[in-house]
Amino acid sequence: MSVEVALKMALQYWHNKDQSEKHQFITIRGGYHGDTFGAMSVCDPDNGMHHLFSGVLPKHFFVKSPSMVSMDEALQDLEATLKQNSDSIAAMILEPVVQGAGGMRIYNPQYLTKAKALCDQHDVLFILDEIATGFGRTGELFALEYVDVTPDILCLGKALTGGYMTLAATLTTDEITNTVGTLMHGPTFMANPLACAVANASIELLLNSPWQDDIARIEKIFHAELSSLRQQDKVADVRILGAIAVIEMKEEIRVEWMQKRLIELGVWLRPYGKLLYTMPPFVITDDELITITKAIKTIVEAS
Ligand SMILES: Cc1ncc(COP(=O)(O)O)c(C=O)c1O
Repeated sequence: MSVEVALKMALQYWHNKDQSEKHQFITIRGGYHGDTFGAMSVCDPDNGMHHLFSGVLPKHFFVKSPSMVSMDEALQDLEATLKQNSDSIAAMILEPVVQGAGGMRIYNPQYLTKAKALCDQHDVLFILDEIATGFGRTGELFALEYVDVTPDILCLGKALTGGYMTLAATLTTDEITNTVGTLMHGPTFMANPLACAVANASIELLLNSPWQDDIARIEKIFHAELSSLRQQDKVADVRILGAIAVIEMKEEIRVEWMQKRLIELGVWLRPYGKLLYTMPPFVITDDELITITKAIKTIVEAS
């Protein structure tokens, strides 16, 4: 919902500035932003899980991702596309540093600073989707803090309530708020007070916990236990950042077989495509985490 609101906000912003022709979006390949229609239209068209609906989705601009090509090549593609099309582009949207469900890829945070500068230069708003990365997951409280970039619009969700209740938030600047005026969006349960109270309690718990130490502890165990999988023939890549560990296999995973076997090994993981990954809760104990990494090693070796 946060992404739907962010996209609408950007469209209404340009509408109110008499530039309604700026009605498209630009994003990097390999992204994932959710399952509703606006969000689906900015997910990777091949990998974003929505090709079934590709015929009915509005068409936007997809540029090379710094997680798949060099940062320079990705920036050149972005610049060229903005130069040609910025008259019709309302905003760029992307997940900072870690692309989640569209491929679990990690990229150089410097890309964010440079992409934001290009967007500013071409009058294109900059939306960061921290729904998966926010609240400590990557090691910083927000992934944008790796470079201290300030987006025009910020999407939050998931860990906003620690997963206890459904709630999302869309944050923006005074300039955008004042230009947008009344945003044309108001579902029944928007800003639900109970969900907001849960979010406040969860954020307080997080900030009063030693979360930086916990993420560093989890990351260290991931490196110690999983890095060696890079040596395995069947493994294409091992990616670790903060409390995220991803094993990319060379071949498609036999999901049904793997999930059944993982349960026998005492863990619940959700592999998909070529990816086996884990994003454990920050309070996980070392022993519990090693149960997960051991199961990952066993299953990769048995694959
Ligand atoms: C980066 C990102 N954006 C948006 C979403 C969509 O959030 P929700 O499923 O709460 O609508 C997700 C969910 O996985 C996500 O990872």
